[in-house]
Amino acid sequence: MTSPVPQLPLSVWLTAQKTSRWQRHGRYLPDSVRHPARMLPAIAAHAITTYTQPGDLVLDPMCGIGTTLVEAIHLDRDAIGVEYETAWASLAIRNIRHAADQGATGTATVHTADATRLTQLLPADMFGRVALVVTSPPYGPATHGQVKPEHGHGIAKTHHAYGDPHDRVNLAHAGRDLVDGFTQILAECVTALRPGGIVAVTARPFRRNGTLIDLPSQVVQAGVDVGLQPVERCVALLAALRDGRLISRASFFQTHLVRKARAAGVPMQLLVHEDVLILQKPHNAQMPSATPAGTRRGRP
Ligand SMILES: C[S@@+](CC[C@H](N)C(=O)[O-])C[C@H]1O[C@@H](n2cnc3c(N)ncnc32)[C@H](O)[C@@H]1O
Repeated sequence: MTSPVPQLPLSVWLTAQKTSRWQRHGRYLPDSVRHPARMLPAIAAHAITTYTQPGDLVLDPMCGIGTTLVEAIHLDRDAIGVEYETAWASLAIRNIRHAADQGATGTATVHTADATRLTQLLPADMFGRVALVVTSPPYGPATHGQVKPEHGHGIAKTHHAYGDPHDRVNLAHAGRDLVDGFTQILAECVTALRPGGIVAVTARPFRRNGTLIDLPSQVVQAGVDVGLQPVERCVALLAALRDGRLISRASFFQTHLVRKARAAGVPMQLLVHEDVLILQKPHNAQMPSATPAGTRRGRP
């Protein structure tokens, strides 16, 4: 059932004053650049600082290389991550160990699993304890990735695609079922959240076969459908703000794509922000009962 998406207060987060490379330098293992769609560390850190206190529990059900978890434990919070692809889950574990070696005081665990089964993974005493969920869905099977000059001519694109294209459990390959899968994951997160707990989802509009998909609005609707209340719509800048002007940090491919589209008469804009949708579990929500593992809600 759908209901109109409400108008929400808006705030702007200065999250790209330093480039993504400098935000990660020394703090993440160099292999981390292999992931096709990492979150800017400053976005995760801003959400964690704004919506939690030291000692709180933070969850990322699609944690990739563990950005949310690493930032949480550096800020003295504890964290749980779930990631479907084994390669990214093991990189998340290594990034967490690296953070601990650097003095991070929180603790984090990573599950390699399908997050639509989240409540089957968590120990029952975790239900109703999570203060904040920070996550971002994959926007499609491929992203901009990295570019390198080819021998002789042209450029080669690397690290721009997720794993097995036939595996639709990976939401990157779910196509039109992306929002359904994401709604299921949000429903599982609601069980894990404490009353009053916050969900922060980063998303941006994208094109599927030329059609503009308003993913941020779909994320808000998904939250409403599982009983969350939308409280804020934020703009996390992917551009630096210097002397009142935005300095774009767009990749080669983003700029190239927009130039090509505009030359062909498509009025495409260069995006220099991510939407961050903030939703809240109602304070009067009932605490979930701790049912034994195996009998909890989840896909058969
Ligand atoms: C946009 S990326 C998140 C990146 C992450 N925030 C980071 O900074 O590394 C989305 C992640 O969701 C994972 N994913 C896709 N389907 C999933 C599922 N059903 N359960 C858990 N993770 C899933 C993908 O493998 C991918 O790593």
